[in-house]
Amino acid sequence: MHFKHELGAADFGSDFLWGVAISALQNEGAAFSDGKGLSIWDTFSRRIGKIKSGVKPTVTTDFYHRYKDDLMLVKALGFKVFRFSIAWSRILPEGTGRVNKEGIAFYHRLIDECIALDLIPFVTLYHWDLPQELQKEGGWASTHMLKWFSRFAKICAEEYGNKVKNWIVLNEPMGFTTLGYMLGKHAPGISSMNQYMSAIHNAAICTAEGGRIIRSLVSNAYIGTSFSCSEVIPYTDKPEDILAARRGDALLNRLFIEPVLGRGYPEDVPLPFFEKLHIHTKAWKYKERMQFNFDFIGLQNYFALTVKHNPLIPYVQMSEVKAASRKVPHTALGWEINAESFYRMIKRFWMYGSVKEIMITEGGAAFKDFLVNGVVDDTRRIDYFKQYIAAAGKAKNDGVKLSGYLAWTLTDNFEWSEGYHARFGLVHVDFNTQLRTIKNSGYWFRNFLNNQSLVS
Ligand code: BGC
Repeated sequence: MHFKHELGAADFGSDFLWGVAISALQNEGAAFSDGKGLSIWDTFSRRIGKIKSGVKPTVTTDFYHRYKDDLMLVKALGFKVFRFSIAWSRILPEGTGRVNKEGIAFYHRLIDECIALDLIPFVTLYHWDLPQELQKEGGWASTHMLKWFSRFAKICAEEYGNKVKNWIVLNEPMGFTTLGYMLGKHAPGISSMNQYMSAIHNAAICTAEGGRIIRSLVSNAYIGTSFSCSEVIPYTDKPEDILAARRGDALLNRLFIEPVLGRGYPEDVPLPFFEKLHIHTKAWKYKERMQFNFDFIGLQNYFALTVKHNPLIPYVQMSEVKAASRKVPHTALGWEINAESFYRMIKRFWMYGSVKEIMITEGGAAFKDFLVNGVVDDTRRIDYFKQYIAAAGKAKNDGVKLSGYLAWTLTDNFEWSEGYHARFGLVHVDFNTQLRTIKNSGYWFRNFLNNQSLVS
């Protein structure tokens, strides 16, 4: 099914939050400047073979120095909202202990500039860049995590809370726990089932506690947290494939939202290692501690996943049937493009019944872009946004309280283990010169937001 494209920005209502998102590690650079401590990505990227072409996030898009120009671009493209994250190791170089005044000052400058340009700042507290010093003590797997994170959250809320009203506690805990502590593909590069289980539980508790901290310190705050989600589709209707998809679904979609909604971890799932999570849950009032009444849930849907039963894969016993092999549309990273599935995921989260509002806190796609005579003609990305925005519009028309859509991302940046290969930006970056060139998708967004029409 193809969604009709004639929906315009105006159809989403004048209070709909159109914006663009970035993250500290992927954009700031200045990795060793002004007292910043090392993050786990600064360290991880030194390990051979972990990042494509061996590149590092030391400079990235140099947002730390170029934020004023980049915010002008946000403004020029017609967005109202700017989402960014705070680098924990800029605020607390050792993760805990002394506060770095220069780090604090940087985010004041950034927030002030947003406000001066009439852009609404949305601040993510944690977007995957844990201070390395905390990793030495176990990082997300440590029992001290709640104490460390609470202090960081409190400092940020007290420091910026009178200027920033929109907060996102954690970005995609599924991503940073699974890739970082189980698969070892992201920082800190660990593959340990025990550490993975502890990291999940600590992230679940920190999600709720972060919400409580901001609620208690920031008046009139609009508080959310962001989850990744992917429809998990069985490759065939064989019972074992259907069961494999149920396991994948529990892991990818239910694991973090259900504790937030006060349901605890999913119990009805044939995943033996979930039992280990229930060991943690013997703690006093665990369901209450993982629950928080968020004002919105941020959803980020990058692909649908088709899976089949595979007994050779440890723990989950499923493997992906790739989009390319099924000959369905996909991005440069091989991720299936399926706006209808995105629509179903929005509806699905809404159907929990206790989610107050949903915001699409990231959405976008990597394609091979070519800068030719000053132009990046990224028609595939334009088509992607048309379809996905139309899908969001359809969900909204169905009655889902959808508060906004944030495009991922402003500029090409450091795409984690993909390095600088995967380009997601609406603005092209030449990483040798830092020259920015607005892609045709950026111009398309500007026209869409200005002319209020999705067509052309
Ligand atoms: C993350 C971003 C990342 C994007 C594309 C999201 O999961 O929040 O940091 O760049 O996916 O991979």
